Amino acid sequence: MEIFTDKDLLQDSLIKQKLSGKTIGFVPTMGNLHDGHLSLVDIAEQKCDLTVVSIFVNPLQFGPNEDFDAYPRTLEADQQKLEDKNVDYLFLPTTNTIYPSGMEKHTKVEAIDSLTNKLCGASRPGHFLGVTTVVNILFNIVQPDVAVFGKKDFQQFMILKRMADDLCMPVDVIGADILREPNGLAMSSRNGYLSDIEKDHASHLRANIIAIQKQIEAGDSNYSSLENHAKQQLTREGFKVDYFNIVNQSTLEPATPSDKKLLIAAAAWLGQPRLIDNQEVNLM
Ligand code: PAJ
Repeated sequence: MEIFTDKDLLQDSLIKQKLSGKTIGFVPTMGNLHDGHLSLVDIAEQKCDLTVVSIFVNPLQFGPNEDFDAYPRTLEADQQKLEDKNVDYLFLPTTNTIYPSGMEKHTKVEAIDSLTNKLCGASRPGHFLGVTTVVNILFNIVQPDVAVFGKKDFQQFMILKRMADDLCMPVDVIGADILREPNGLAMSSRNGYLSDIEKDHASHLRANIIAIQKQIEAGDSNYSSLENHAKQQLTREGFKVDYFNIVNQSTLEPATPSDKKLLIAAAAWLGQPRLIDNQEVNLM
């Protein structure tokens, strides 16, 4: 695995590879890699000749009261996992490499409001602006044929797919299924903030989503009542609910009884950490 911190050197090497006909798959991450991240690497490797992974804890997507400083940084272990996966390139830019004139003065790329202003965007103002901006910069450096994102961050995936389509970017943005712990908890770098007991308890978020999925599949389309029921249940179980919404899978607008492709999306704090999870529901 070749490791680059310099964007020009990485770009020179990748351009040579492209000229020799190689296709490039890209997996952007913030590190502290777990099997969820590695499943994206598997997909990139299946789709393309060469795989590039980036690790960059992007300060622009963290709010002032969020966990940028505390975010787990485990570079040595990450590097080993990527070596074991036979990843070809690891890109480790510094903040100065990505934002040479500082974050404030840097050009930003903003996705459409109707996708960014709801769900996680409502409680994390500026978060998706940070994500779309950094992913643009990374795409321009790496120039991938395929980029893989996890559907654990379903809204992020939708926003990035739409951005790439709207801006005619020559990249295929692919969504990957959520990888879970044996108890159903979606794998996340932030799960490291949870004690073992809390990890057990955190699986209730998933359990509530599944219970609502079953009710929808059984024909209940009173979505606001289902949402309220789930919020009350999670609150009783010790979560502080940020949102629990049943939405249209492509617009992320509140689902209507005529919608067939739905998404149950939820975010809730369990103590300090904020957990997110979702479930696609496809009705006949
Ligand atoms: P990060 O949280 O490190 O996640 C990197 C990628 O891994 C994202 O596409 C995310 O959706 C995916 N992922 C995380 N947990 C997963 C799981 N349990 N199953 C499947 N995929 C999972 O998301 C980011 O970083 C950043 O916002 C980034 C896109 C890198 C921009 O900074």
